[in-house]
Order: sequence, then structure tokens, then C-alpha cells
Amino acid sequence: MAATLRTQVAVVGAGPAGMLLAHLLDGEGIDCIVVETRSEAYVAARIRAGILENSTVDLLRSVGLGSRLDAEGHPHRGIYLQWPHERHHINFASLVDRHVWVYGQTQVQRDLIEASRAAGRRVIYEVSDTAIHDIESDQPAVTFTDMDGRQVRIEAGVVVGCDGSFGPCRAAVPERAREVWTRVYPYSWLGVLADVPPSTDELIYAWHPDGFALHSMRSPTVSRLYLQVPNGTDASSWSDDRIWAALAARLGHGQDGWELYPGPIAEKSVLPMHSYVQSPMRYGNLFLAGDAAHIVPPTGAKGLNLAVADVALLAPALVALLAKHDTALADAYSDTALRRVWRCTHFSWWMTTMLHQSGDPFDTQLQLSQLRWVATSTAGATGLAENYAGLPLGF
Ligand code: PHB
Repeated sequence: MAATLRTQVAVVGAGPAGMLLAHLLDGEGIDCIVVETRSEAYVAARIRAGILENSTVDLLRSVGLGSRLDAEGHPHRGIYLQWPHERHHINFASLVDRHVWVYGQTQVQRDLIEASRAAGRRVIYEVSDTAIHDIESDQPAVTFTDMDGRQVRIEAGVVVGCDGSFGPCRAAVPERAREVWTRVYPYSWLGVLADVPPSTDELIYAWHPDGFALHSMRSPTVSRLYLQVPNGTDASSWSDDRIWAALAARLGHGQDGWELYPGPIAEKSVLPMHSYVQSPMRYGNLFLAGDAAHIVPPTGAKGLNLAVADVALLAPALVALLAKHDTALADAYSDTALRRVWRCTHFSWWMTTMLHQSGDPFDTQLQLSQLRWVATSTAGATGLAENYAGLPLGF
């Protein structure tokens, strides 16, 4: 049996970009339907980065999504940057009067799902064979098979691809109309979630001859830690003891009396690192937001923040387009969004290449020189602080 649904905006992907867009549009009286290939439980549980920029927090608060964030999130003034025998604190609050919050993407997703349920929004999970049609017309459509095997067609004014790097939307832009830039890094991260109080008050980014390490956290009882590993690493080849020993060495256990407290590891996985930018972020009546248009390596935690910034720009553009037939913001969306995308793409690349071992001894000397400059010069530290704490929305 086939069904046809009608809405103003068909959103492909129920991750943070798609769910936040639906939340913002609903608040302005624009009707949406969100479709998602995964189950709600899967989307709600997946582990991603955990740092929110100042402007991300401001936006979430301003649209009624800030109460749990204010109760459970942890403001951080800055980060530690270190290399063997030296640890320096970069204080964003004093350098740029902005700071960041530790609040996991998993928690943001849960808040969005709850808000969506409370508002009775249409989110259709576990769809398959999603396809995008007629994006050059005024009546684009999304078709899919629902979880009961029915063929469904959604007719909309606009389709928004929030479906990440594996979804169909980015490839729906014809090849002749799109340009793509990519960088694959010659290393990956082994990420672990550990049931142990963090051994630090703020995040530690550590350069080390054995490879990069990062000490992050999710809550006063849960730590999130990362190790640089070779591409193709199998997470099961790293025993818990080997992980804690590598973290202790790279994070400087015993240096100036600092100690890393090990604990039970609840989850471990390997994350590949790459950069990807696709332009334009709008083609006809298809708009792209978040990972569908761009991927950053995780160093600097920009992925979620960039998705939020896209959606913050896109929501008013779609309201103007659909409610007032005013095309100006929609026409400017791609160019405006890509300015921030390239800033964050550069910053993520810069943090990544400054901190990871590439195997080239010339790189090593440049990295150490740059780390010393960033950690000890106000000009150097301010550049890192401004980018990390995040530029204001609309940049
Ligand atoms: C994390 O907590 O998962 C995290 C934090 C900072 C990063 C990357 C990941 O740069």
C-alpha cells in the first residue's frame, strides 16, 4: 500500500541537525516531517563529542532547550595544552570573554527527542530506500519504505538533508553542480568511555612522541579519553591495561605530581579522521546542513557546533522563504554557511596537524615551536581561544 504525506519541510535525518531544525521551524509555525533510517534508541544512544560552544548554548537556551543543560552541563574556562614536561592552561574566558560547556551530544539528542515528543512532531524512524526527487522543482519529494514495508512519498516545499555522510542527500546534488574538497589524515583515534571521575578539571590536549592523547569527560563520574592510533587499528587489539598505560605515558602521569586515575572501560571504538566540504549547500529546493555537507576531524569538537550554526542560519531562511516568499536569506544560505564551515575546517585541521605525530621529524619541530608560541604568547593563545570557544552565530 502506498501513502502520500504533505508538509512544508521534509527533513532527512533525525540527528541533532535535523531535530533542532524541526524544533526551530515548529516554533515559527512551519510544518515538518523528519525521516530517519536508524531507530530512535540507536540515535539517542550514539556517542559523539561533548563540547558546546558559547553560541550553541545561547541558541539552545533561547529556544527552551537549556534547562537540563544548565543543571547538568559544566562550564569550562579553557583547556590545557601540553607536551612532555610542560602543561599550559589556555584561558578562553580571560582571552576572549567566551567559554565552552561540557555536555555530550548524546544529552543534546535526548533533550531534542523529548521536546519533539512533547510537541507531537512527526519523526518517522527505521525507514529504508530513502530517495530524493524533483529538487529543481517547486514540489520536491522524499520517498522511502517505512518499518511496516509500506511505500511512502512526502511532498514538500523544501527538502533538507541532515543525513550525514552516508545519507542520500549530498549525492542528490548533480555532480556537475557540486565541488568537493577532502583530506584523509594518516591516523585515527581510539576513544574510550570510562566509569571513573576525570583526573582533570578541564580538558587536556597532549602532544607526545608516542602520539596524541586527549583527556575529556562527560560528567563528574565519567571520563572520555582518546589515543592517536594507526589507521586500520582494531579496537580489540587494545586491552584495558594497554590503554591506561598509553594514556598515563602520553598524558604525563607523575609529572609535577599529576596522576591519571584508571577505571573500568565501558566502551571503546576507533574513529577515522577526515575533512570534507561540499559546495554549494543548497541546490534548487534541497538544502544541506551538518555532516551531510561537511565533516571535520574531532580535534577541537567542532562537528556538532557547526551543525547547530548551519541550522541557526537555515531556520530563519526557510521561514522567510515559506511563510513570506522572501528568497534573500535562502539565496545567501550556502555562501554564508560556508564561511563558518571553512573557518572551522581550517581550525580543526590546524589543531589536528599541530598535535598528532605524522612520522616526519620536520613536522615535529614545527609542532613544538607552534605549541610553545600558542601556549606562551597572548596573540597565539587568543587565536586558539577565539576559534575553540566559537565565533558568534552569523559569522
Ligand atoms: C569529547 O569529549 O568527546 C571530545 C572533546 C574534545 C574534542 C574531541 C572530543 O576535541
